[in-house]
Amino acid sequence: MTNFSDRVRRVKPSFTLEMTSRAAELRAQGVDVINFSAGQPDFNTPENIRNAAKAAMDNGQTKYTAGAGTIELREAVCEKVKRENELVISPDQVLISNGEKQSLYLICQALFQGGDEVLIFSPYWVSFPEFVTLSDATPVLIDTDAKRNFEPTIQDIQYNISDRVKGVIINSPSNPTGSVWSNETIINILGIAKENEWVVIADECYERLVFDGEFTSAEKLNQDHHIGANVITCMSMSKTYSMTGWRIGYAFGEQSIIKAMSKIQGQATSCANSISQAASVEALIGDQSEVEMMRDKFKERRNLMVDLLNGIPEVSCDMPGGAFYAFPDFSSYMGKSFRGEVINDSFDLSDVLLNEAKVVTVPGDGFGAPGHIRFSYPVGKEIIREGINRVKKVLEQLN
Ligand SMILES: Cc1ncc(COP(=O)(O)O)c(C=O)c1O
Repeated sequence: MTNFSDRVRRVKPSFTLEMTSRAAELRAQGVDVINFSAGQPDFNTPENIRNAAKAAMDNGQTKYTAGAGTIELREAVCEKVKRENELVISPDQVLISNGEKQSLYLICQALFQGGDEVLIFSPYWVSFPEFVTLSDATPVLIDTDAKRNFEPTIQDIQYNISDRVKGVIINSPSNPTGSVWSNETIINILGIAKENEWVVIADECYERLVFDGEFTSAEKLNQDHHIGANVITCMSMSKTYSMTGWRIGYAFGEQSIIKAMSKIQGQATSCANSISQAASVEALIGDQSEVEMMRDKFKERRNLMVDLLNGIPEVSCDMPGGAFYAFPDFSSYMGKSFRGEVINDSFDLSDVLLNEAKVVTVPGDGFGAPGHIRFSYPVGKEIIREGINRVKKVLEQLN
């Protein structure tokens, strides 16, 4: 029998990916499944980006690149960050990785070790605690409340201050809640991080999917308010440009941290895909009109999804300010039964919705939010209507 490392035992599989594969399996069996579990836009990558990839292949940009990413792409990141986030950075402060996920993993590998603690706010994206665990550090989960837009209070954070804490992860707009945190909350976190010398990891992969106002990057707030916290910002091509399969994300911040991350990346994967990098240059500095079009569509779908969810008896769903997730509260259904089987938690409820309504959702318990269920809405409006109708009909049968 093979002996696996403790690491394998400790790390949890990505259950959001599992839900997506369950949906794909059912579909392959010919079942008419409605998938509200996807973490990606339904649009194809814009044509100008696809064409840039084709040209890159024809021009022979098919080889290894510099470990930290091509200079063209790192310069394009600097241009984009200046244009959209009003931040001035240089290419040696940028790391291009295989999706933002790898940047986040690398930061934890570069900064944390056994005995360290890293603060994570719950509900959290499923991978955050796992990145921390894989670095041998301990994730410290801080609960937030739907009534406060899932934002922590200063007291929530102060309660967890200790010498062991080395970092804090923030994610606004958030997966799974879709909430966009107030500048005030982010400024408070930056201040506490500065005082305690924590590194702030700002996951801003949904920055372009903000529907009701302007998005301000944590690093911009850090600079505008002269806080001086050490912020590493992570962004992605995946959601903004509908490029999840191309696997390009990036991180920027203090040069020494970027260099340490790059050193590990060099040994782990050499570099990110050369063709995807060339296409990402076009994405970042080329025509941005499709980004706006996609955002407008997501906003319409958000409004419809939230409206329909709130139309289900005993369900409440706050209006999320960004990303493409609704995160309604189904607590009233916990403890009820379906055909004699008690629904103990959101895993059970998600299972009933999948088996009976053929609707795939993601249980909130997996994100540290019992009673909640995540509904992704990067699907057409008719699908949203049909899916929620099916959910409603199944819930009517619970007693
Ligand atoms: C909060 C959050 N961060 C990071 C990522 C990773 O994105 P990428 O595709 O760039 O690895 C995701 C993807 O779902 C996400 O939801």
